[in-house]
Amino acid sequence: MKKVMLVFGTRPEAIKMCPLVKELKSRPGEFETVVTVTGQHREMLDQVLRAFDVTPDYDLAIMKPGQTLFDVTCDVLLKLKGVLEDEKPDVVLVHGDTTTSFAAALACFYLRIPVGHVEAGLRTHDIYSPWPEEFNRQAVDIVSEYYFAPTEASKQNLLGEGKPAEKIWVTGNTGIDALRTTVRESFSSPELDWTHGSRLILITAHRRENLGEPMHQMFRAIRRVMEEHPDTKAIYPIHMNPLVRKAAHEELDGFDRLRIIDPLEVLDFHNFLAASYLVLTDSGGIQEEAPSLGKPVLVMRDVTERPEGVAAGTLKLVGTEEDVIYREFSRLLSDDEEYAAMSYASNPYGDGHASERIADVLVGCR
Ligand code: UD1
Ligand code: UDP
Repeated sequence: MKKVMLVFGTRPEAIKMCPLVKELKSRPGEFETVVTVTGQHREMLDQVLRAFDVTPDYDLAIMKPGQTLFDVTCDVLLKLKGVLEDEKPDVVLVHGDTTTSFAAALACFYLRIPVGHVEAGLRTHDIYSPWPEEFNRQAVDIVSEYYFAPTEASKQNLLGEGKPAEKIWVTGNTGIDALRTTVRESFSSPELDWTHGSRLILITAHRRENLGEPMHQMFRAIRRVMEEHPDTKAIYPIHMNPLVRKAAHEELDGFDRLRIIDPLEVLDFHNFLAASYLVLTDSGGIQEEAPSLGKPVLVMRDVTERPEGVAAGTLKLVGTEEDVIYREFSRLLSDDEEYAAMSYASNPYGDGHASERIADVLVGCR
């Protein structure tokens, strides 16, 4: 029997780790599963835990309003120490590239506990973009013992850095496991009813490096384009970061075809995605989900660690400059051929069975 601890703390980690929690818990003869959340996010994390009906064994409850990278790193490191010493897991699984994941992996390294990295090997090779995520994911991979790469390209990134081939498994992304269970034909909601008869533009934005002027430019561009296209309506489920909220309200208030709403439950969000005409975002996870649903995404970033979605034709990088976003967004609304070319559904991030593969690997490891 293997004791596996999963450590996560933000919304996207929870969305991609809960399917794995479920898988491990469904195999009680093989695994003792311990769930530790850092609480780097609070409301947005709890929303996901409720949706998947996962109750953590430990909650470090670290979130503070306006928290800095120093706060998150130090609080996770110090508070996780005792939990790891008490539980002595055989392996700790962390996910992706958040500061929770980095600090948890570092804590395990200090205590010499093996780390399994779920969603390993994503790279932009620009340490400042996304910031601090590119550093976080590279640092986690330095101390990891098991690499669960979502795609062949992420495996190649790891091999290129000299990680041993026998420690890398291409599993698909567990986020696609979640998508399999959430999108429903029969889904309805008052906000979606409001958009009927219009093209639904779905918006999200939160990246640290985009806070301030880039975010203002993004919002100004979106508003300008939508004002010129009366057949569009936008829904923007806004991140809880007060800096994001301030910028969004400053630029978008008073425009009645764009609704800013609270973060959606993941089941709802996936269904909004399925109902959308196109997406504007700087999110990572949405870049993985949209190709499966054949939804064009204008990625408001200069670089992406998810080249598979660009190669599949669904994602287009448009940066954060107002004029470029204005031009590309206008074009996608007006050019049917461009739109059709970007609307082709494909599954570069997996077939929805990543969690099973990860569990199978864990059974066999020492
Ligand atoms: C974090 C991750 C980022 C990930 C994103 C997903 C780091 C450094 N950043 O960024 O990689 O893409 O989550 O959304 O790990 N807040 C709340 N309630 C919540 C969540 C956030 O009030 O449930 C507010 C708090 O004021 C908090 C602030 O948002 O201080 C920022 O949260 P934080 O986790 O530090 O940064 P994110 O931008 O969410
Ligand atoms: N998401 C959600 N509710 C929302 C917006 C997004 O559940 O209102 C989901 C989305 O489906 C994706 C994840 O949150 O799985 C992306 O999280 P986020 O953009 O916060 O972080 P990132 O992926 O950029 O790290």
